[in-house]
Amino acid sequence: MESQGTCADEANILCQMVYGHVIYEVGKIAIEMGVFETLSEGGATCQSLAEKFSMSEVHLEKLLNSLCALKLLKKTKTKENDIYENMQVASEYLVMDSPESIVGVIKMSEHFKVDKKKMMECLKNGEHILSNEENIFNKMEHNEVACTNFHTAMESIAKTSYSLIKAIDFGQYKTLVDLGGSTGTIARQLAEDYPELDITVLDLPEVIDLASTLPANSNNRVKFVSGDIFKDDLPEADIYTLCHILLDWNDSSCDIILSKIYKHLKPGGAILILDSILNEDKVGPLYLNIREMMLFTRFQGKQRSFSEFENLLAKNGFTNIKLYRANKFCLYDGILARKN
Ligand SMILES: C[S@@+](CC[C@H](N)C(=O)[O-])C[C@H]1O[C@@H](n2cnc3c(N)ncnc32)[C@H](O)[C@@H]1O
Repeated sequence: MESQGTCADEANILCQMVYGHVIYEVGKIAIEMGVFETLSEGGATCQSLAEKFSMSEVHLEKLLNSLCALKLLKKTKTKENDIYENMQVASEYLVMDSPESIVGVIKMSEHFKVDKKKMMECLKNGEHILSNEENIFNKMEHNEVACTNFHTAMESIAKTSYSLIKAIDFGQYKTLVDLGGSTGTIARQLAEDYPELDITVLDLPEVIDLASTLPANSNNRVKFVSGDIFKDDLPEADIYTLCHILLDWNDSSCDIILSKIYKHLKPGGAILILDSILNEDKVGPLYLNIREMMLFTRFQGKQRSFSEFENLLAKNGFTNIKLYRANKFCLYDGILARKN
């Protein structure tokens, strides 16, 4: 039985290598058609789906069966016909309005297609020194559409952190600053969970402008402040959060950020880093290795193991470093550390 499993794993990875781009398009087409949305209201036959989407059953059946093979749908045979239903993973993550939806992230991945030439260049040169034009955050300063798309995807990613932040007790803190907090997705959740906590999001001016236009921010108590983590003073806080920030920066930039936080933090205060963490041997989780291949062509950053985070934090004065591993699909893990 074991060798069958290995064989299935091999077949899977080889299929991904040969047809990965097709899997990506199949998933995206299903999302765009609204297959998962429709099936979240209950199972359906190929015929009824064909009517709903005004399509021929001929190829639609193939699409639905592929989604079953990908374990996103399941098919149950009844006497009359086959019924297609969402698997739990599809209901949770592939339906737009689900609290854990990653549809925005999938849509955004289109903008992060890997440029093979650039990857070869980076592989040859080692560290990738970004020019101002290449810095994705600088680019967004002048491109409102790119900025909106990027931060819509950030919202989608940020929502996957809810189960993790619920495992951390913020009750002991009075003030929290979310550095690079985008349009406030995590901050708003914390504001709801901790009515007494004073919460500020700091981000670049164009992001704060965008945040101020969002209906979600029109009636909540999160404060939005524009600033540059590298250039400006930070608002005072008992706890700073850095969610998906350090992965974008090399170690020397991380040192600048962490030493600045340490300087502004009150004694007894804390820092919470939400960032996905590589296994110690730097192999796995798979999606992090793959994402790192995309990251190094666009950012100066990298994925880090827990001991690499520990070293960065300890070097900048932090102690009591504690790891929180996500216990379900989540694009973050957590590391909490203190200033004595
Ligand atoms: C990968 S996004 C993460 C967003 C958010 N924290 C989350 O987890 O969804 C990185 C964020 O850092 C912000 N950022 C980049 N450079 C910055 C800087 N120099 N100062 C302040 N924020 C910055 C970006 O605008 C963006 O919102």
